[in-house]
Amino acid sequence: MTVLTARRTRWGLAAAGGAAAAAWWFGDRAPYPYTQRGLLDIPLPYLTCAGLDEVLRPRPGERILEIGPGTGLQSLHVAPQLGPVGRLDVVDIQPEMLDHVTRRAEERGITTITATESDARTLPFAEETFDAVYLVTALGEIPEPERVLSEAARVLAPAGRLVVGEFFDRHWIPFGRLHRLADASGLHFEVRRGPTLAYLARFQPCRSTHPVPVPA
Ligand SMILES: C[S@@+](CC[C@H](N)C(=O)[O-])C[C@H]1O[C@@H](n2cnc3c(N)ncnc32)[C@H](O)[C@@H]1O
Repeated sequence: MTVLTARRTRWGLAAAGGAAAAAWWFGDRAPYPYTQRGLLDIPLPYLTCAGLDEVLRPRPGERILEIGPGTGLQSLHVAPQLGPVGRLDVVDIQPEMLDHVTRRAEERGITTITATESDARTLPFAEETFDAVYLVTALGEIPEPERVLSEAARVLAPAGRLVVGEFFDRHWIPFGRLHRLADASGLHFEVRRGPTLAYLARFQPCRSTHPVPVPA
């Protein structure tokens, strides 16, 4: 093998490796691995539970849906705010994640979380079931996020609210793209907290004819 051929082979292998890595970075849509669950309990900048409260504003008696709860960082914080009559439904495609949330809720005496295994692209709930729906670092991980948004719009009450949290990782949805997808799903933008790299944004179904003020 000449020096030139060897160099070409090395460059070819490096390019193939780079292409494979890029395909994985941009194309992989496998759900977040349960084996790496420890990382999910680390709060991300701008996506803290206090930040979620500010944008979601959960109230006693409400029925709220969380999509993709992971190990329950947000679920265990939101559910107690709904009081004894309110209810938090959590749906996830991975039963291990749901078992984890349920176990942690039991340890804390929280009895108002209902876990359902489901793909967020086909939610097993009737129209207008929820006062609010939220997802934190989950939307970008799910293939066809536009279907998830349409489903969220369908299950939301007319004056309901959708909160989406996204963070700059390989599944990140920049805010501009989310805004366009939400528009196309009949959801209009209300408020955003944080820069496009790490934000929580609230939307409301367009079918609510008058914007309904979200209570402080
Ligand atoms: C990165 S974790 C986020 C967990 C949590 N929200 C947090 O911020 O710590 C994404 C979650 O979305 C779930 N998920 C992925 N694809 C899904 C799908 N198609 N339907 C429902 N849940 C899905 C994963 O199983 C995982 O629990």
